[in-house]
Amino acid sequence: MSQSNTGTFTLTDNASGESFELPVIPGSMGPSVIDVRKLYAQTGHFTYDPGFTSTGSCESGLTFIDGDIGMLLHRGYSIEDLAEKSDFMDVAHLLLYGELPTQKQKEKFVHDVTYHTMLHEQLAYFYRGFRRDAHPMAIMCGVVGGLSAFYHDSTDIQDEHQRMVASFRLLAKMPTIAAMAYKYSVGQPFNYPRNDLSYAENFLYMMFAVPAEEYVISPTVARAMDRILILHADHEQNASTSTVRLAGSSGANPFACIAAGVASLWGPAHGGANEAVLKMLEEIGHKDNIPEFIERAKDKDDPFRLMGFGHRVYKNYDPRAKVMQKSCHEVLAELNLDDPLLELAMELEKIALSDPYFVEKKLFPNVDFYSGIVLKALGFPTSMFTVLFAVARTVGWVAQWKEMIEEPGQKIGRPRQLYTGPTQRDYVALEKRS
Ligand code: CMC
Repeated sequence: MSQSNTGTFTLTDNASGESFELPVIPGSMGPSVIDVRKLYAQTGHFTYDPGFTSTGSCESGLTFIDGDIGMLLHRGYSIEDLAEKSDFMDVAHLLLYGELPTQKQKEKFVHDVTYHTMLHEQLAYFYRGFRRDAHPMAIMCGVVGGLSAFYHDSTDIQDEHQRMVASFRLLAKMPTIAAMAYKYSVGQPFNYPRNDLSYAENFLYMMFAVPAEEYVISPTVARAMDRILILHADHEQNASTSTVRLAGSSGANPFACIAAGVASLWGPAHGGANEAVLKMLEEIGHKDNIPEFIERAKDKDDPFRLMGFGHRVYKNYDPRAKVMQKSCHEVLAELNLDDPLLELAMELEKIALSDPYFVEKKLFPNVDFYSGIVLKALGFPTSMFTVLFAVARTVGWVAQWKEMIEEPGQKIGRPRQLYTGPTQRDYVALEKRS
């Protein structure tokens, strides 16, 4: 393929000698895209990109990542600024509406979200159907999907008001659902949400308060919680977001789509990595064992990977990991905790970043590398780490889903394939099969 100076690519079929012009569409930042929408009609060929390594699946104005320099922007604002200067409700408003809210807009937004924090009482019975030792992500998949059985008045995706109500409901109810999943697993009573608290405080309250004692929320813990929510709020067209978009492209209701996102997030290559990092650090146990694990990560015959390292897009330090590392130090210092896992993580990072394998492949710590240590310090059990990611990412999923539905001419997502199975053959009767 050759690029002309007219903003098109010329594709030449060497077999027939025919040439095709493919338009190039520029973005406001980052690489432009080659528009291949008419490629099949014009050439009879599909494009082939199984892991979507070179495919722009949609147009979006929400989040921009420059992986080479480690840049992450939401609606143009850097993640560092947002984590330092905003709170999660600011960021949620920014993602959903495109702008940081004014004071008045923020009050209304917070009111609209908190109005929906309670769950239909019948949903509590759902939980009792799960085993007590169920992974909370398994419960999340079920209960989030189950919302569509309860909130029929916000499932008409063609109705703008219903779309907005569904967005508020999802944003408001996810912490309630998540905290109930935890309470169920430890056999404690569910806590109803408290709308006088901030989003992060309310989540902590529902997670950790018990009826027998007063629960005092530490401002340090609340701020760290809020920052974790901000850092995970959205991340462009990752696996779970693409899953939400694909599910939504068929016209499925938003609750079902977000449940699909939760399922996709669960895997260890994605949101499940924070849980996997902590397990890995515990398994490593001591810094003397680090070289052995580094060798295993480099061994192609060993499926082990250094969890919390590497990223499809970042070929530099994940900017979220930098903020998370700082937060980790602050939280441990302020809570007067001394977690040997932090020291181990820092040593592991140091050794990996000086190893030619990791250097050459540009494998840097990602957001999950330090988040587990912070979450542990805040009192979260390991099994809740990915759930927390899901709570935070809900606003991104919802904003991306809305953006897609509101796009004129939106189509169902329907990829094609390279077929490599048997060619057509005659049916063989049972008695003649060998
Ligand atoms: N440890 C050891 N080797 C690695 C690692 C790792 N963590 N990550 C990538 N590599 C190697 C990989 O073996 C491959 O080597 P080669 O080219 O010789 O075959 C090369 O680096 C490129 O890796 P890839 O798997 O082709 O890259 P990808 O873009 O498909 O995968 C990833 C990205 C994040 C799934 C991968 O780096 C990984 O599995 N990391 C560990 C899991 C993790 O931390 N996930 C959290 C991602 S950030 C949060 C989120 O978005 O959910």
